[in-house]
Amino acid sequence: MWKVCLATLISVGYASQTVLRPEPSASDFTTFRSTNSPHSIRIRQQNESICAAGSAQYTGWLDIGPKHLFFWYFESQNDPVADPLTLWMNGGPGSSSMLGLFEENGPCLINKYGNGTVHNEWGWSRNSSLLFVDQPADVGLSYIDEGYEVARDSQEAAVDMRRFLQIFVSEVFPNKRDSPFHISGESYAGKYIPYLGAEIVTHNLQYPSEPQINLKSCLIGNGFMSSKDITFGYWETLCTTNPGVSEPVFNQTRCDIIAANMPRCMDLYDTCNTNPDVVICNAAYSVCYKGIVGLYEDESKKGGRNRFDITAPCYIDEICYEEAGFIEQYLNSTVVREAIALPEGVKGYALESTAVVDAFATTPEAMTSSSDHINFLLSHGIHFLAYQGNLDLACNTAGNLRWANSLAWKGQTEFTSKPMLPWTSIVAGRNETVGTAKEVRVQLEGQTEATRFAFVTVNGAGHMVPQNRGDVALDILTRWIAGDSFT
Ligand SMILES: *[C@@H]1O[C@H](CO)[C@@H](O)[C@H](O)[C@H]1NC(C)=O
Ligand SMILES: *[C@@H]1O[C@H](CO)[C@@H](O)[C@H](O)[C@H]1NC(C)=O
Ligand SMILES: *[C@@H]1O[C@H](CO)[C@@H](O)[C@H](O)[C@H]1NC(C)=O
Ligand SMILES: *[C@@H]1O[C@H](CO)[C@@H](O)[C@H](O)[C@H]1NC(C)=O
Ligand SMILES: *[C@@H]1O[C@H](CO)[C@@H](O)[C@H](O)[C@H]1NC(C)=O
Ligand SMILES: *[C@@H]1O[C@H](CO)[C@@H](O)[C@H](O)[C@H]1NC(C)=O
Repeated sequence: MWKVCLATLISVGYASQTVLRPEPSASDFTTFRSTNSPHSIRIRQQNESICAAGSAQYTGWLDIGPKHLFFWYFESQNDPVADPLTLWMNGGPGSSSMLGLFEENGPCLINKYGNGTVHNEWGWSRNSSLLFVDQPADVGLSYIDEGYEVARDSQEAAVDMRRFLQIFVSEVFPNKRDSPFHISGESYAGKYIPYLGAEIVTHNLQYPSEPQINLKSCLIGNGFMSSKDITFGYWETLCTTNPGVSEPVFNQTRCDIIAANMPRCMDLYDTCNTNPDVVICNAAYSVCYKGIVGLYEDESKKGGRNRFDITAPCYIDEICYEEAGFIEQYLNSTVVREAIALPEGVKGYALESTAVVDAFATTPEAMTSSSDHINFLLSHGIHFLAYQGNLDLACNTAGNLRWANSLAWKGQTEFTSKPMLPWTSIVAGRNETVGTAKEVRVQLEGQTEATRFAFVTVNGAGHMVPQNRGDVALDILTRWIAGDSFT
């Protein structure tokens, strides 16, 4: 199978750019080394033994000087050539996208012993080729050479990711060069994705003779686009039954505290946004944390509350879900390390890079919003979908709907005028209402087709919609990339 790709590959290269030359190497890696840039991709095909994917799969690293970005690529189970290409990134910052692969929307999921996988019938490679990348360098199975610094914000991360994608679609899998490309992800990817999308659009325009990345849309699950709006949404999520609970989570005493602290917190967010300095923004955050966020957060830990699902228990610290522990155990195992040929000396696998968490904490990015980048994408005809599990607190529906309504662009007036309406999906053979949705399709200047902006919610799902409602999540992806409406 891999040999077929190789043949196509050798003959293709971009005119004035580098031609990547595959070199055979030890342990059946194939390396595509650029002749006049420092970049190369090491890739090897995997079989079903480490991931029961049901289609061809490849793992490897993009090497950019001292930075080594790990990827796991699955061809579409339907039509690998004609189907689109979708990238998935988990958030954090600093979280490994292997969480998404093995716990959410990958074609194989971790088993309950942490020693193998089971096929996921709702994997997102059903009707799209699917690429998972651990980024920025140092996250998950990505690594960075001793003595070099990790990325501090989404812009730095986006520069490396764009390079990676350009080489990936034009050189390593040239059969995907013209495929519609979609960027998906979750949580802090509400920052990563708009920055990456904008970087791609900008680079495409600036360098029209280079291979273009055919970006069509961005779709973000429970995204962290605006910390301010999400914090505002805490009251509605914890003090009403709107998330789909029979009783509010918090009592009147706590709800009064949150309500009383909200105006000052919102004011401080504005100060941070107009003066995006890390000291000012951290001061704002500590006030909002103490008066609002911390009331829940301080109780979310093993055996306590779950910030990703207000109705669910929390089994392990930080991430709450047991699967996360199984994934760490599995990706740390000799079987997987040998299969992917993790170089000697590279640290063990962890779901979170503390170096990246710490580096991002030196900038105000988390406290600011990615609205400007999303506006830029919309104005360049890139469609945008925010989908939401309604039981999540960390990136709650109430806050993100407030954010979506407040996004200032040509579609805002029509979007805000629309009510959220029920949408239906086939669940276990039955046509059921699964959440609410609204969307607009707006003709923008200079664009040949209308630009879509949609907001879709899913009942009974938390932060990780594909983990909780795999069938509904796959329906969202399939409809979205096909251009079909939700209501
Ligand atoms: C998705 O793939 C299945 C087969 O794997 C195919 O029957 C179906 O038509 C595809 N759907 C779309 C929207 O391409
Ligand atoms: C995984 O662990 C279970 C329970 O210990 C065992 O039955 C099974 O054989 C193991 N599978 C592999 C592939 O090691
Ligand atoms: C409200 O909830 C908090 C935390 O669960 C609890 O400590 C407090 O006693 C409750 N107050 C009332 C009036 O029930
Ligand atoms: C699958 O890959 C593993 C690890 O690379 C290898 O040990 C095994 O022999 C392969 N199995 C088949 C059926 O090719
Ligand atoms: C994975 O390996 C690292 C480093 O070897 C270790 O610190 C960590 O505890 C391991 N995690 C698991 C779940 O085995
Ligand atoms: C499911 O029901 C809705 C509302 O009754 C209807 O609009 C939709 O066409 C149905 N979907 C299918 C696939 O039958």
